[in-house]
Amino acid sequence: MRRLTILGATGSIGVSTLDVVARHPDRFEVVALSGHRQIDKLAEQCLAFAPKLAVVADADAASALRGKLAGRVPTEVMHGSEALETIAALPEVDTVMAAIVGAAGLRPTLAAARSGKRILLANKESLVMCGAVFMHEVASNGATLLPIDSEHNAVFQCLPTQGRAGVRRILLTASGGPFRCTPLDQLDHVTPDQACAHPNWEMGRKISVDSATMMNKGLEVIEAHWLFDTAAERIDVVIHPQSIVHSMVEYVDGSVLAQMGNPDMRTPIAHALAWPERIESGVGALDLAMSANLVFERPDLDRFPCLRLAFAALAAGQGTPAVLNAANEVAVAAFLERRLGFRAIADVIAETLDTLPDMPATTLDDVFAADAAARQTAQRAIRART
Ligand SMILES: NC(=O)c1ccc[n+]([C@@H]2O[C@H](COP(=O)([O-])OP(=O)(O)OC[C@H]3O[C@@H](n4cnc5c(N)ncnc54)[C@H](OP(=O)(O)O)[C@@H]3O)[C@@H](O)[C@H]2O)c1
Repeated sequence: MRRLTILGATGSIGVSTLDVVARHPDRFEVVALSGHRQIDKLAEQCLAFAPKLAVVADADAASALRGKLAGRVPTEVMHGSEALETIAALPEVDTVMAAIVGAAGLRPTLAAARSGKRILLANKESLVMCGAVFMHEVASNGATLLPIDSEHNAVFQCLPTQGRAGVRRILLTASGGPFRCTPLDQLDHVTPDQACAHPNWEMGRKISVDSATMMNKGLEVIEAHWLFDTAAERIDVVIHPQSIVHSMVEYVDGSVLAQMGNPDMRTPIAHALAWPERIESGVGALDLAMSANLVFERPDLDRFPCLRLAFAALAAGQGTPAVLNAANEVAVAAFLERRLGFRAIADVIAETLDTLPDMPATTLDDVFAADAAARQTAQRAIRART
């Protein structure tokens, strides 16, 4: 029996995780759940899974949730970021799904690493912001890191079980998002809803915009660098609009191993939940005859400047990926609030990176300082454009 904390239970990954968990009541017990603002959804989840603890954003949200649960389930309700760290480190929990979106996920995911948990890592921002610090905490506390991002989960499945002998390249696939073929001059006018209408995957709004700009792939390149201890020069991005091949590993003998499946996050979630076993995920069988036309293209960096910026940030090292991540979060939020045009997202990030070229990232305090400075700089860059 695995005992779980699910951070970000009310989000897209959290809901898919609970869907898989509900199929295997004999294998998984939900000990703690977190949401942020979606109290009705978290209440439904608490009623269905009766966790010992639930965490929400603030005192008002906590009292609203308590009101919905009173007399129905004995779940204790807590609030705030320290409470997230508490449920990530509970002694009775062995597995933590890290599925909070953005930099807010870093501290609780680190708390899970420091208490030696098996971490199912969806919150790629933790590795982007402070890969060296994070991987050190994982290794020195005996934690286990299992990737949830479909690409990294695919790579994990295709790599040798021990070491990296014979591996030449990692090939991350990318759908190209909703604007892969949109004329460039029309991109200035696209709306948040158009950007979030991903052709293959249903995801939260922030990662959907990241997919449309391809910053998501850039963040994934940085994530792959840390997860698989692989230099940037040996990580390539391939556009694959059908999202059937989730990623590939190329070996020195010319073999290329690919992991394929329908685009449904329950597959990597079930893989990581049960690893090294396999369990039913609810995902239907892949109909290869229907998926016969698999297309692969090189990414166009003029169309997707965010991908170029992410490679440059990885090459620059130190605090630059944290600056990239924070500027991106601020710019995407402004785009979703219609304060910034779609193509200006990349401009704001580039300007922030130019303003803050040498931020250190030796300690966690350095990383949070880089994050804060980048948020201020990006906000200024946005104000200057409005
Ligand atoms: N969705 C996918 O298919 C997918 C695939 C690969 C990787 N990922 C990664 O998985 C993570 C989650 O993505 P998602 O698409 O599931 O996002 P999402 O649907 O937006 O859900 C985000 C979750 O985080 C919570 N949250 C938001 N802000 C928070 C804060 N400041 N403090 C604490 N909790 C907060 C939300 O709570 P409320 O909703 O209650 O406010 C929700 O539970 C991201 O890092 C993303 O890059 C997602």
